[in-house]
Amino acid sequence: MISLNIEKTLGFISKENVFAYEAQVKAAQEALENGTGKGNDFLGWLHLPSSITKEHLADLKATAQVLRENCEAVVVAGIGGSYLGARAVIEALSNSFAWLQDKKSGPVILYAGHNIGEDYLYELTEYLKDKKFGVINISKSGTTTETALAFRLLKKQCEDQRGKEMAKKVIVAVTDAKKGAARVTADNEGYKSFIIPDNVGGRFSVLTPVGLLPIAVAGFDIEKLVAGAAAMEKTCGKDVPFAENPAAIYAATRNELYKNGKKIEILVNFNPKLHYVSEWWKQLYGESEGKENKGIFPASVDFSTDLHSMGQWIQEGERTIYETVISVEKTQYSLQVPSDEANLDGLNFLAGKHVDEVNKMAELGTQLAHVDGGVPNMRIVIPALNEESLGGLLYFFEKACGISGYLLEVNPFNQPGVEAYKKNMFALLNKPGYEEESKAIQARL
Ligand code: PA5
Repeated sequence: MISLNIEKTLGFISKENVFAYEAQVKAAQEALENGTGKGNDFLGWLHLPSSITKEHLADLKATAQVLRENCEAVVVAGIGGSYLGARAVIEALSNSFAWLQDKKSGPVILYAGHNIGEDYLYELTEYLKDKKFGVINISKSGTTTETALAFRLLKKQCEDQRGKEMAKKVIVAVTDAKKGAARVTADNEGYKSFIIPDNVGGRFSVLTPVGLLPIAVAGFDIEKLVAGAAAMEKTCGKDVPFAENPAAIYAATRNELYKNGKKIEILVNFNPKLHYVSEWWKQLYGESEGKENKGIFPASVDFSTDLHSMGQWIQEGERTIYETVISVEKTQYSLQVPSDEANLDGLNFLAGKHVDEVNKMAELGTQLAHVDGGVPNMRIVIPALNEESLGGLLYFFEKACGISGYLLEVNPFNQPGVEAYKKNMFALLNKPGYEEESKAIQARL
């Protein structure tokens, strides 16, 4: 189970003021439960963990098995909420060097549709040239340009390399039940498909097939992931007292920090495997809260790597930041620092210590230094990097995000701002239907 510690924010804000949010948090929890708040048509994530059926998980696992048995590589095509959750979990649980190893225990998982890099897509299609590969095409709207473009390339390549019949077997769609080009293609081609529920927005969709299918294809236990999330659903439930509810405390603390001029939250990890958990978290909070000229800016760093770059700014730059550290209690493996007779590097004081003991002292030393430097610090401790802990962590952040968005009085479940660039891009590319916008934008250039 995860734990949250806010002690090191209390020199900057008072516990009393954090606890003063209790009534507002209660109201936010009730608005979520009763569907009376803003964006109430997108609350399908709230009780998702406890409502996922065994049959649904079995269907996902069976489909994953087909891909595992028939593919050396599987490309997850998706962007934003349609890929970050899967990548967060897969990268957190995978061996960092798995894909360089000759003996693989399952298909290599690759990603596309999250950028429009010609070189990226060229290099990907080159890599796949001699591979038996499959594709999971993930798009709720079914019309996202980045994903659709990558899928067009990958579909053709898969069919050319593997034949139409095999392509049908190893291309799976995760999309809307009825609308969008991805749905039309899946139905026309006869692909196996999974539905993204209408009432679950992209950034809250990791526990739908959007996240669960790729995670299962990567060989991880989606039952345990969902169980971890379901346990957290209880821990963060509406009737859990404020002081015992980590989602409530996190939401209240970050809003109180924001009120006190801390405009940037930096999510910190001391484990490189958590890099994409931070990417997922940035989308969750950035897209949910950054609106109406309000919202904490979510940033992230990977320590100790970034202590040698961003560390300076964090220690001594503008004092508008606070840190939330995700600390992993136990490592998966054990590695001790060897003793060296000559001790030329002067490291014998570490001999016999586990590498993680050094890392933990870096973590503690950093916390103290940053607090001394004027940076409030919260700590989220998870027992280990495994499916249960990650399921719990993801749900914790989702629940806290819903509460926090309501405390900020925004609609945490829409993202009107992401349309602006799309409109301009379509106008510049002369997309049919954008004739007026094309003329207007050309006039501005
Ligand atoms: O959270 C969101 O809604 C977005 O990040 C979407 O997930 C992203 O834009 C991809 O959209 P779609 O799944 O429709 O392709």
